[in-house]
Amino acid sequence: MNWTFEEAAAIPFGTHTALSFLKAARVKSGDTVMIYGASGAVGTAAVQIAKYMGAEVTAVCSTKNMGMVKSLGADHVLDYTRGDFSGIKKRWDVVFETVNKIPVGTVARLVKKGGVLILGAAIIKEAIQGLWVSMTRKCRVMAGTHTPTRADMETLGQLMETGAIQPVIDRVYPLEQIVEAHRYVDAGHKKGNVVVNIG
Ligand SMILES: NC(=O)c1ccc[n+]([C@@H]2O[C@H](COP(=O)([O-])OP(=O)(O)OC[C@H]3O[C@@H](n4cnc5c(N)ncnc54)[C@H](OP(=O)(O)O)[C@@H]3O)[C@@H](O)[C@H]2O)c1
Repeated sequence: MNWTFEEAAAIPFGTHTALSFLKAARVKSGDTVMIYGASGAVGTAAVQIAKYMGAEVTAVCSTKNMGMVKSLGADHVLDYTRGDFSGIKKRWDVVFETVNKIPVGTVARLVKKGGVLILGAAIIKEAIQGLWVSMTRKCRVMAGTHTPTRADMETLGQLMETGAIQPVIDRVYPLEQIVEAHRYVDAGHKKGNVVVNIG
């Protein structure tokens, strides 16, 4: 294991969330998977894990992050600053909304019949809307949280060992600058993870 402490620290938050949801969605080889918000901590991990599971991945991010998500393995990249998602005709087996930035009704229409909609960042309103979607459309909707298990962490360790996933680290702040770190994260435009070094 040749990881830095920063790399190891960046793993549990986004990567565990992405793994848990994609496993629960039962993503399999050949599935088409859209990751909406592909440039955040959850999104950068989800792109890599969905690829590892054999999916054809469409990543959605802004213009400046298109190269980065492509380098993580995305097969197709859509720019959320340039398109109206309500006009898209294509449907995906699994759509993973990681940032809670697109209306549930709009993102639900991107899921194939019998597919899965993951609302990874849903809060109460979106979770209720998700429940409605699951009753009125023929797709499974997932929201909520997942508690990390030892087995999950071992799986993530193995995926890192084999190079299947690598944490994306935007910035590392010393503990004395934790207020600035929070300000940066709260601005909502970090790429992958922000790490605070308490050493
Ligand atoms: N369910 C769970 O158990 C669980 C666990 C962990 C986290 N979460 C939640 O997951 C969410 C995501 O966290 P995160 O750390 O991955 O990311 P984040 O910090 O919430 O979001 C940062 C990313 O979102 C992108 N973004 C901003 N506006 C967007 C838009 N309109 N469309 C698409 N992308 C947009 C930004 O890219 P640009 O700069 O290009 O805009 C940036 O890369 C959070 O709400 C967090 O609370 C849930």
